[in-house]
Amino acid sequence: MKEMSRMASLTQAMQVPVFDLKRQNEALHDDLVAAFERVIRAGQFILGDEVAAFEAEVAALSGVKHGVGVGNCSDALHLVQLALGIGPGDEVITTPFTFFASAGATARLGARPVFVDIDPVTFNLNADMVEAAITPRTKAIVAVHLYGQPVDLPRLRAIADRYGLTLIQDAAQALGARYESRPVASYGHVTCYSFFPTKNLGAFGDGGMVVTDDDELADRLRMLRAHGSKPKYYHHLLGYNSRLDALHAAILRVKLPHLPSWIERRRAIAARYRLLLAGTRPVREGLVTLPAEAPGAEHTYHQFTIRVRQPYRDALRQHLARHGVQTAVYYPLALHLQKVFEPLGYKPGDFPEAEWATSEVLSLPMFPELTDNEIEYVAAVIDTFEPPVGSNA
Ligand SMILES: Cc1ncc(COP(=O)(O)O)c(C=O)c1O
Repeated sequence: MKEMSRMASLTQAMQVPVFDLKRQNEALHDDLVAAFERVIRAGQFILGDEVAAFEAEVAALSGVKHGVGVGNCSDALHLVQLALGIGPGDEVITTPFTFFASAGATARLGARPVFVDIDPVTFNLNADMVEAAITPRTKAIVAVHLYGQPVDLPRLRAIADRYGLTLIQDAAQALGARYESRPVASYGHVTCYSFFPTKNLGAFGDGGMVVTDDDELADRLRMLRAHGSKPKYYHHLLGYNSRLDALHAAILRVKLPHLPSWIERRRAIAARYRLLLAGTRPVREGLVTLPAEAPGAEHTYHQFTIRVRQPYRDALRQHLARHGVQTAVYYPLALHLQKVFEPLGYKPGDFPEAEWATSEVLSLPMFPELTDNEIEYVAAVIDTFEPPVGSNA
């Protein structure tokens, strides 16, 4: 670490953003402008050929038949559960350690999100605990591939099949992820993606997609995203207005061919972080734990999230900020403790691993255009972290 420490003291002024889209957009500038022009000339701004082509491309890379473009991934999760007929009296199992939408979609339909604690190593739903949460009211499992690391898909699919449940994959953070060399979506039953600008594949605004092999489900989703109509102005279901815009699809089609190399770069950045951080004092002393890859899971490193032993996370975060390194905490409060979910009756201590994770996780700068210099600088700054004196942990 001698080399890195010297560099840290030499480059105090370095600023490392947690995420930066400008670098990607600059590299693709001409192609993005051409895509905009193509859409302007075509004059079709919602759905249409551009969206249909993008849906087919995403379905193909997902290893399934259908892609249905929608307004965002929150809507994708909602529309899927609506299409499955999930409503009052039903239960849907999911993780309490995720973005709100993973469970909010269920609750908005009047059904009950049933939380199951996470595995502390992968931060994903603990597959060992899922069966105990299944009741006669359970209709589905929402499996979230948090930070871009796939859940244990063969196991969860087997549980879903044994109990006649639908496996809904929340792959908002995991487009391009594979499990045992197969795209995650190919494990079924239905998978939701987000094209929020910061995701593995980001639009210039909100966007989302559902992919599935189920013809009937895809057909219902195509209706539900357009007020339940088929054809236009003939309404069979009570749906929403949640469609993917042609401009977003055109932009995403420029970016899609780069996705494999961006994921490769994310994995290379993670490997470099891992190598450099292993030699730092906080890691050697057990203050910081590095993220682990589960067997079979090909992590896309949407986030590179370390654990910082309580109570040092915020002090390390401040130390990094003082040296110009931005970080993020995904997520600071578990879902079962959110105010809006009070009526579900959960209390602190119900999901200890999820609660513990909220106080320890710290996501480091991660995006494909992050430079090797920046990675080295982040590691060097972490190496110089001194736990605050007087802290009794
Ligand atoms: C795990 C997870 N699920 C769902 C969503 C919702 O995606 P969107 O912003 O496209 O609605 C997000 C977005 O942050 C997410 O991280």
